[in-house]
Amino acid sequence: MTNWPILGHLPAYLPDKLNFLTRAAQAGGTPELQLGERTLLLTTPGDIQHVLTGNPGNYTKSPRLTSERGKRLSGRGMQTAVGAEHLRQRRLLQPAFHPRSIEPFYELMQVRTTRHLAAWRPGQTRNVSEDMEQLALSIIIGSMFGPDTLPDEAALARAITHRRAYLEFFYSSLFPFPEYLPLPVVFRFRHAMRTIDASIAHALAAKPGSGFAAMFAAMRYPDGGEMTFPQQRDELLTLMSTGYETIGDALTWTLYLLAQHPQVEAAVLEELARELPAGGSLPDASTVPRLRYLRQVIEESLRLYPPTWIFIRMAVDHDRLPSGARVEPGTKIYLCPWVTHRDPRYFPDPLRFVPERARPRFAYFPFGAGQRTCIGEQFAFQEATVILAMLLPRFRCDVPAGHKLTLQSGITLRARNGLPLRILAR
Ligand code: HEM
Repeated sequence: MTNWPILGHLPAYLPDKLNFLTRAAQAGGTPELQLGERTLLLTTPGDIQHVLTGNPGNYTKSPRLTSERGKRLSGRGMQTAVGAEHLRQRRLLQPAFHPRSIEPFYELMQVRTTRHLAAWRPGQTRNVSEDMEQLALSIIIGSMFGPDTLPDEAALARAITHRRAYLEFFYSSLFPFPEYLPLPVVFRFRHAMRTIDASIAHALAAKPGSGFAAMFAAMRYPDGGEMTFPQQRDELLTLMSTGYETIGDALTWTLYLLAQHPQVEAAVLEELARELPAGGSLPDASTVPRLRYLRQVIEESLRLYPPTWIFIRMAVDHDRLPSGARVEPGTKIYLCPWVTHRDPRYFPDPLRFVPERARPRFAYFPFGAGQRTCIGEQFAFQEATVILAMLLPRFRCDVPAGHKLTLQSGITLRARNGLPLRILAR
């Protein structure tokens, strides 16, 4: 891999990040990359564990997220907070994501899935990635504010999508572009933020009786204090960027893989028929934990196509990784589930979709680990299971003949231009 003067590895990295990082890992050791800053790509479970849980205090999140500008864009919620501030916020909010707290969302997930699938007709070719993203978006909005609090949910959904497009633009560009550039994406973002702010203010003033907003309002710090209004707003803003696109991607990739593995699909259907017997009982808190094979299918899909395909840390101080690599202050650390999840040292025959295979911890880390591990992991499994358990017995998805998948590695891992699948009746 050519290391150009000044440009370093950027000319090879930027056009095809996934391929570049895979090749870098295949060269062995702990690859040192020149991508603006000195960057280490971690490739062993030992190094990954060390950074996420062994010495996490030495590894902070990327300044693009935690800087003043990052906070202005993504809010001053738990995702952009660091150090003691992050721990305080995380401890406060954690109980809202406990399986018992999110149990009431089963009904919302069932209702929204039923409503969404009502538009599906056998014979259609649908852009399933857009479909799944819209469904997941509708569920996160309902989960935040309760099902009937907002006067215009569709406007909020559009605004969240526009905000997401702006964040994608901001976080994926090589250098942060000036905010005042007169680009359509910038105007749409500003308009979107007005709609989002108005929706949150309306919902909080209406004192929703259910949902994350209501839970957040009821939470108290150890000293008895409550979150300020701006803090509640920013935590909701955080869920708007973290809580739907990832699940939409996970569902899309699962449908894509099932379409190509009819035997796995047959085993899922057999489990669903056994655990959700005739009469069409809906997946809920009593049945979802019994759908063990479906869970393995989702886990294996997250291995092959991890929605959060990469996340980044910056070293604060000197350190030495278990692999022997030296870390200097300011070294950028790439944690890349895409690369490690496909490493044959940890996953024999790594490209094969095998739901029942072992997925060793820290070689497999689609939700991260440690203090900053995904707070929404249980929510994600609950939602993905409900949707798949309702969709699969009714519809079969096929990959259209001649379709060629091109991956897009932006904030999350998606199919470029969406993923068309043919919908067939069961
Ligand atoms: C398949 C779906 C999902 C995947 C693959 C995923 C992945 C991740 C990963 C890898 C991280 C850690 C990033 C890091 O350490 O820098 C993370 C953090 C986070 N996730 Fe998720 N996520 C998913 C769904 C969700 C959902 C549904 C929610 C909310 C309802 C959510 C909320 C968050 C938040 C707030 C954080 C930041 C936590 C912190 O910094 O303390 N995620 N997610």
